Amino acid sequence: MLRVGIAGAGFMGEVHAEAYKRISGAEIFAIAETNEDKRTGFVQKFKPRKAFSTVEEMVQDKEIDLVDICLPTPLHSNAAISALEQNKHVLLEKPIALTVAEALQIKEAAQKSEGKFMVAHVLRFWPEYELIKSLLSGDKIGKIREIYAARFNELPLWSEGTWLMNEELSGGLAIDLMIHDIDFLVWNFGRVTDVMATAIKNEQDFSLQAIAAVKFEGGETANIEGAYLNPSGRGLTTEFKAYGERGLLELYPNMNDLKVTMAKAQEEHFKIPSGDGYYNEIAYFVTCVSEDKTPDIITVDEAIESLKVALAIRESVAQRKWLAL
Ligand SMILES: NC(=O)c1ccc[n+]([C@@H]2O[C@H](COP(=O)([O-])OP(=O)(O)OC[C@H]3O[C@@H](n4cnc5c(N)ncnc54)[C@H](O)[C@@H]3O)[C@@H](O)[C@H]2O)c1
Repeated sequence: MLRVGIAGAGFMGEVHAEAYKRISGAEIFAIAETNEDKRTGFVQKFKPRKAFSTVEEMVQDKEIDLVDICLPTPLHSNAAISALEQNKHVLLEKPIALTVAEALQIKEAAQKSEGKFMVAHVLRFWPEYELIKSLLSGDKIGKIREIYAARFNELPLWSEGTWLMNEELSGGLAIDLMIHDIDFLVWNFGRVTDVMATAIKNEQDFSLQAIAAVKFEGGETANIEGAYLNPSGRGLTTEFKAYGERGLLELYPNMNDLKVTMAKAQEEHFKIPSGDGYYNEIAYFVTCVSEDKTPDIITVDEAIESLKVALAIRESVAQRKWLAL
C-alpha cells in the first residue's frame, strides 16, 4: 500500500483526496497544510494518520512514499525538488512551475531521484479528450486546418488569500487556465512554433480574457481562448472544435455531446465514456509507481513545452506581436 502525503488542503487537495479514497493501492497517509482550519477540516474528512503544518516538514517523513503537491504554483519547484531529493514519488499539479528555469531544476531533480515524477495535466486523462485524440490521430476528419479550444471560469476567488488573482503568483490566465488546452494540443500536435495573443484586463491589470493564435510545427493552427468571465455559480465551461479537410469535430462537455459533422451535414454523435479525469490521472500514477514503470502519458519535457507556450502567450500580449518559440 503506497503511503501518500498530500501537500495543500485547498481546492485541488480535496479533489485529489477524493480520488485516492477510491484507489485501492494507495492510502491518504498525511496532509501538510499551513491553514489550521483547513488542516483540521481535512483531517476530520479524510482521516490521514499524520498532519503537518508545512510541506517542508512532511517531505522529511520517512514513512511517506508519494508526495502529491497541490500547493500554490510559486511553491511547486521547492516542494517538488525537496520531495524528489528524499527519493519520494511526486505527482505535481499543473503548471509545472512559473518559470522555465524552475521547471528545468525540477527536471534535473527528477532525473537524479529514485522517485517517479509526473505533472498532473488532467485533460490527457478525461475520457472525452482521450476520445478526441483517438479521432484526430485516426484521421476521422482528415488533415486539421484549425482548432478552437476555449475554457471559461468564474473569477478564481476561492484560492487561499486569492493568490490566483495575483498574476505574479499564479502566472495569470495563460499559465493557470489556458495551459490545460495548450497542453492538450501539445499532446496532439507536438511543438509550437509561433504565438500571437491579445487580452482584456481589469483595472488591477489582471487578464479577464485572452485569445491566442498558435501555430504548430506540422502546420496546424489553433485559437485558444481563456476567460474568467463566467457569472458566479456557473463554474467551468469549455468548448472544443477541430475543423478538418473532411469534417468538423465539436465537443461541448457540459452538454455531454461530442459530434462530428461530415460533408452534406451528415452527423455522427459519439458516446463519451464515463469516468473522472482526476481519478484516472491519479490511478495511472499510482499504477506506474506500483509497477515500477515510467509515466509516459505526460513527460516532464511536454509539461515544460506547455509552460513555454503559455509564457509566450503572456509575453505576446505584453509585446502585441507574433513571437517565435
Ligand atoms: N488540474 C486542475 O484542474 C486544477 C484546478 C485548480 C487548480 N490547479 C492547480 O493546483 C494548485 C493548487 O491550487 P488550488 O486551487 O487548490 O489552491 P488553494 O489556494 O485552494 O490551495 C492551496 C493550499 O495550499 C496551502 N499552503 C500554502 N503554502 C503551504 C505550505 N508551505 N505547506 C502546506 N500547505 C500550504 C494553502 O493554505 C491552501 O490551502 C495550483 O498549482 C493550481 O494551478 C489545478
